Amino acid sequence: MRILILGSGAREHAIAWKLKSEIGSENIYISPGNAGTQMCGTNANIGVSDFESLKSYCIENNIDTIFPGSEEAIANGVRDYFEANDDTKHIYVFSPDKFAGQLESSKAFAKEFMQELSIPTAAYKSFTINELEEGYSFLESLKPPFVLKADGLAAGKGVLILDDLNHAKKSLNEMLANQKFGSASDKVVIEEYLDGIEFSVFALTDGDNYVIFPEAKDYKRIGEGDTGLNTGGMGAISPVPFYTSDVHDKTMNQIVIPTIKGLKLQNLNFRGFVFFGLILVDGNPMVIEYNARLGDPETEVIIPRLDESLSQMIMDAKRGKLTSKIAKTVTKYAATVFAVSGGYPEHYEKGKKIDNFSDSDTLFHAGTKRDNNGLVTNGGRVLAATSYGDSMDEALKSSYDTLTKVNFNRMFYRKDIGHDLKKY
Ligand code: AMP
Ligand code: GLY
Repeated sequence: MRILILGSGAREHAIAWKLKSEIGSENIYISPGNAGTQMCGTNANIGVSDFESLKSYCIENNIDTIFPGSEEAIANGVRDYFEANDDTKHIYVFSPDKFAGQLESSKAFAKEFMQELSIPTAAYKSFTINELEEGYSFLESLKPPFVLKADGLAAGKGVLILDDLNHAKKSLNEMLANQKFGSASDKVVIEEYLDGIEFSVFALTDGDNYVIFPEAKDYKRIGEGDTGLNTGGMGAISPVPFYTSDVHDKTMNQIVIPTIKGLKLQNLNFRGFVFFGLILVDGNPMVIEYNARLGDPETEVIIPRLDESLSQMIMDAKRGKLTSKIAKTVTKYAATVFAVSGGYPEHYEKGKKIDNFSDSDTLFHAGTKRDNNGLVTNGGRVLAATSYGDSMDEALKSSYDTLTKVNFNRMFYRKDIGHDLKKY
């Protein structure tokens, strides 16, 4: 296998790190990659949606498999593009096509899918600009807080949770009439608020069979105690202490299996990963959202816990030989804690020298690059320190120890990753 991974985050570093141990760095390419992926393969400085350039690069380097890390290339139709070209259709793009990718890229599409298949999720309705009045009436029929979601991709910013009815109505108007989130909010999903604790489950699939990866919990807010703005993720833990065998059984029977069957039933060209963003409400799992890829920073804990060959699973999927099962997983805990640039997720500076730096095996890079000064910051989220432990505390302690050895100007990280899980 000669694989091109699309992306430049710690998720892509973790995937490249795992694949390196299986197929060797000479068979791994990452576009555009970062200073960490460089240690696992060859970085190609091409944007994930520059399909023309990716095509030439794949042909030149005999790439036979493409692994999109983030949703961007999937939503822009990377699989459709490679399948439509005679000289690239032999390349196996491990993702859904653009239409099936709507499971992530359109919230209305995902909600309709769940409703048709009776998959537990919040009650909802969707509205366009011509249905503004109906939208107001629907809001009036709900109890606060009100959940408003831009239908399309909005870089994690398209969900508003509001306590006040008038504020919710005003926001609905801004989304539909004033394109608050651009064309992503041409349609708005309004849904019932669910009160519970969130977690994530992942299935690798060929559209027919599936392998269940370890579950994880991520930490999205910038501030301790889950306060402040949303980020791309500040940390993650796997396994999830409240993911009991009862929760697992319900998740499998009510959500995972019906979803995979539903993809086939609805003739969707889906393969790659289904990321189930779930919430446990009174002991029952419900779907908050689907993604068509692995999560970040969840990947930085679930890939290190995977005790099986990832490349073999991808090859099995390609050859139609995948059999449904739960992936073998190490029993150890894994924790990851992200070091970010001061000011992130708002304004921050790049190019800060990263001092005292010694690479360790599972210190995954995100916004890093090498220049004449050595290693420098190149983004908001910079390094994800992943560690194993016999307990969650042990894994966390080890990640925090790693971060005390890293330093750059205005480096920040949350000190409370996993604290909410100690009671389980
Ligand atoms: P999404 O982009 O759909 O994952 O939503 C972003 C975040 O908003 C989720 O991770 C939840 O924390 C929150 N959220 C979304 N939908 C709901 C809901 N129906 N009830 C409560 N919280 C929600
Ligand atoms: N950790 C959430 C995401 O990857 O969307």
